[in-house]
Amino acid sequence: MAYVEGSHHVTLSVAGAQEDVDFHVKVLGLRLIKRTVLFDGSLPIYHLYYSNASGDPSSVITTFPWAQAGFYGKRGTNQAREVLLSVPHESMDYWYQRLSDHAVGVENLEVFGQRRVAFRHPSGIEYVFVGNAGDQRVGHAGYRVPQEHAIHGIHGVGVHVSTPDRMVEFANESFHSQDQLVEEGDRAALQIGNQKYGNHLEITVNREDDQGTWGYGAGTYHHFAWNVDTLSNQTDVKFDIEGRGYTDISELKDRKYFKSVYVRTPSGALFELAVTHEDGGWECDESPQELGSRFQLPDQFEHRREEILNRLETIEI
Ligand SMILES: [Fe+2]
Repeated sequence: MAYVEGSHHVTLSVAGAQEDVDFHVKVLGLRLIKRTVLFDGSLPIYHLYYSNASGDPSSVITTFPWAQAGFYGKRGTNQAREVLLSVPHESMDYWYQRLSDHAVGVENLEVFGQRRVAFRHPSGIEYVFVGNAGDQRVGHAGYRVPQEHAIHGIHGVGVHVSTPDRMVEFANESFHSQDQLVEEGDRAALQIGNQKYGNHLEITVNREDDQGTWGYGAGTYHHFAWNVDTLSNQTDVKFDIEGRGYTDISELKDRKYFKSVYVRTPSGALFELAVTHEDGGWECDESPQELGSRFQLPDQFEHRREEILNRLETIEI
């Protein structure tokens, strides 16, 4: 029977490459594990990958810095909005202070009876730290973030939608939600798949904003990737989704480190069904210790290496 294992990664359209590296590596303490380019289209744009200590699926944030191409987006409704990250409950004061010390605007929230810390990526994308007890995913203690406060990985994805029922229906009937739906005001949350952590789908009713950008545009959330574990299971999940009438689902795409199909959900949020590549994932072209240290190109772009590098902003770690 088809299943979803948990989350795999988050992919965002950000603005500048250097400010993105500075934010994820120097402020959040994450580990840069890969620098390559977007594989679709013909414009050379970085694809940067950040993770926790080990690069676990469910800990990875990837970004396309679109300012270089002049692509800017608009956040709105009917799209993914919030990057939800898992930290220990006891770490909220630490992060509030650290973000403030780095001149990042920060706000305390209370959601589902628990404190959260909300802030923004330099491009405007909304990030939220959610406290979790017992999350064993090991954070990366970069740039003097103490190990006990380091980010475990993804908590989930926040989606804004004008009519939530259709998305709850999709999650329940076609996307392997766990049983319990939690509701509070204009927000509902459920978990997808087998895992205990990293797989929360939060749906916020938003009838105020205009439709947000679905294409690539700086300042917007592009898609959320789920780990479907094996290629045969990926095929099964895809067939089941199609069998329910959701035919806005792509062919299989080889992303070098993983293989993916993409489905446009009834909330407007784009979901990816990813399987880490059988040839070693992040470690297929760099050793575990070297991850992120060299610029990587897929074979189809290797002959354009010099031209591509000349067109990309230089980044310093
Ligand atoms: Fe992705």
